[in-house]
Amino acid sequence: MKTLITNIQELLQIRDASIQKVSGSDMKQLPSIKNAYLLIEDDCILDFGSMENCPINEVDVNIDATGKVVLPTWCDSHTHIVYAGNRILEFVDRINGLSYEEIANRGGGILNSAKKINEISEKELFQQSKVRLEEIMQQGTGAVEIKSGYGLTVEGEIKMLRVIKKLAQNYPIKIKSTFLGAHAFPVDYKENHSGYIDIIINEMLPKIAQENLADYIDAFCETGYFSVQETEQIMEAGKKYGLQAKIHVNQFNAINGINACVKHNALSVDHLEVVTDEDIAALKKSDTMPVALPSCSYFISIPYTPARKMIDAGLPLALATDFNPGTTPSGNMNFVVATACIKMKMTPEEAINAATINGAYAMGIAETHGSITIGKKANVIISKEVTSFYQLPYAFGSNLIDTVLIEGKIIQ
Ligand code: NIG
Ligand code: FE
Repeated sequence: MKTLITNIQELLQIRDASIQKVSGSDMKQLPSIKNAYLLIEDDCILDFGSMENCPINEVDVNIDATGKVVLPTWCDSHTHIVYAGNRILEFVDRINGLSYEEIANRGGGILNSAKKINEISEKELFQQSKVRLEEIMQQGTGAVEIKSGYGLTVEGEIKMLRVIKKLAQNYPIKIKSTFLGAHAFPVDYKENHSGYIDIIINEMLPKIAQENLADYIDAFCETGYFSVQETEQIMEAGKKYGLQAKIHVNQFNAINGINACVKHNALSVDHLEVVTDEDIAALKKSDTMPVALPSCSYFISIPYTPARKMIDAGLPLALATDFNPGTTPSGNMNFVVATACIKMKMTPEEAINAATINGAYAMGIAETHGSITIGKKANVIISKEVTSFYQLPYAFGSNLIDTVLIEGKIIQ
């Protein structure tokens, strides 16, 4: 089946297949063609170019995009969208003055979500999670990474990972799965860290590998959670099963975790609300993608990742949502891109690069996603009529998406 999109005001993020990520000052460039067409065959991009060269052959579907911009769908490389219930009461507690740490210390936070996961059936967990997956597809996300980490028991973690697998089997959106057993220490292991790490390494990981339930491994490297040394143990264990690391680090404190992640060749380091010069120096010498999560900063009122400092130092940067019940109950990448521009002083070009090609890199799918490239998946957002693509982050509260295509099919 062939789909032709014509009269595109501007076709954004056209890239050669060799580009896997963009860094530093290159992030200011967003290659595009004005007055363009895009030709799709089945699930892939077949061709694109200027309207002057638009093919006149018969196609099955013709979409007129006069006045509209077309760009690749968002690649959201960090989410926790498989969760049970919600944490609305903690949201109100925070409004009334409690901090994230205070809420966690009295049994809220991750442990609150873990309790809910261990009480819910796999079927019900799938039902609740698919609603969020369908919502983000409507909002223009065409690839997403989803983590476990609210089980914290063998059964709970496996349940979450099976739901992620089932979502991947039932929806056209590309899904990468990350095992985050090392998200927090269960109450019974508060004083017995090695006991819980032993369960992760010797019980959870072998089962997960046996059922082929995860692509990556994660840990929450943070004061009060997993120490740098414990995180290294997790990364090493993951490596034995071929799971590369994507690590939660530098959210509240810089404890030299980034250096350890780089040493272990992590695919990404995520959060980075607090970043030191040493962290930047370590990342400069690596292939590890730093990932910022501005909706999390917004929702729990913590600093934004110092994007300007990092990009100006020559680093790449990706943007993701962190969609989860505690710190970011939103999976809207349009809001992430706008917030990156408004609060982190990223230019629209930088923010779109961060949310597409660099996001694809941060989840290991840059070969097939993240740019308008011949042969890549036909994952595109067609905007409503806009004056230019700058309107997308400018009109931050408006829904400017007209149509989303994932693997060549219109998402209804
Ligand atoms: O990425 N920081 C660690 N994990 C999640 C939130 C966990 C929660 O509060 O449920 C995050 O923000
Ligand atoms: Fe997270």
